[in-house]
Amino acid sequence: MRIPFIAGNWKMHKTPEESIKLAKEIDNFLQENQEIDVDVLICPPYTSLYLLNKELKDRKVLLGAQNMSYEDEGAYTGEISPLMLKDMDIEYVILGHSERRQFFSENDEIINKKIKKAIEHNLKPILCVGETLEERESGKDKEKVKNQIIADLENIDKEKAADITIAYEPIWAIGTGKTASSDDANDMIKYIRSILKELYDEETSETMRIQYGGSVKPHNIKELMNKSDIDGALVGGASLKSEDFNKIIDF
Ligand code: PGA
Repeated sequence: MRIPFIAGNWKMHKTPEESIKLAKEIDNFLQENQEIDVDVLICPPYTSLYLLNKELKDRKVLLGAQNMSYEDEGAYTGEISPLMLKDMDIEYVILGHSERRQFFSENDEIINKKIKKAIEHNLKPILCVGETLEERESGKDKEKVKNQIIADLENIDKEKAADITIAYEPIWAIGTGKTASSDDANDMIKYIRSILKELYDEETSETMRIQYGGSVKPHNIKELMNKSDIDGALVGGASLKSEDFNKIIDF
């Protein structure tokens, strides 16, 4: 049984003080509603992580980073090492988000190196994949997603793969208010599971969680979560207000 997994990607929003307020509102909601059997992750900016780890000691909410370096340390100006994340009790890291691919020129080779490095340090990656509108309209969406998965997971064995979450995020649905229909999202996620089965085996593919991301809101989460293969959501905009995010958690 795969436990539902809802993650909030705060992107470049929230000061440390604002982060504490929002994180506490989410964590308090989880503490008060113990019956909610969902893994809930928040991924604030690096500048908030240290403080959040200190302030939310016995938290239910999980903490993740939005990116990391594929090096442990060294002369890499502006980078954050996986060792620094481990030192702050960070458990998860988003890798290969389409904004990293688009604005920071991250390619599959770089993302593969980051995934290997995260695994080496027992950080659990959330690997983002997804097609552009053009690729979808020309019928190349599945091919694109398959190529990304094969390249990003190259040389990662099945024991390690079980700790990886895949987030299927069609680029045209991110921050646009356009969501893939729940049927289309489920169809692609089923397809992703079949790729994982080919790469690894049935058991591994059934263990790995696959999220949908792209304009997930309180009003569409239930329909998405009711689908057979969607295990959770990676939420951007709607993760910035506890009022919305807590509704999503409590789908
Ligand atoms: P959105 O972002 O929910 O604002 O569309 C999702 C994401 O980029 O992970």
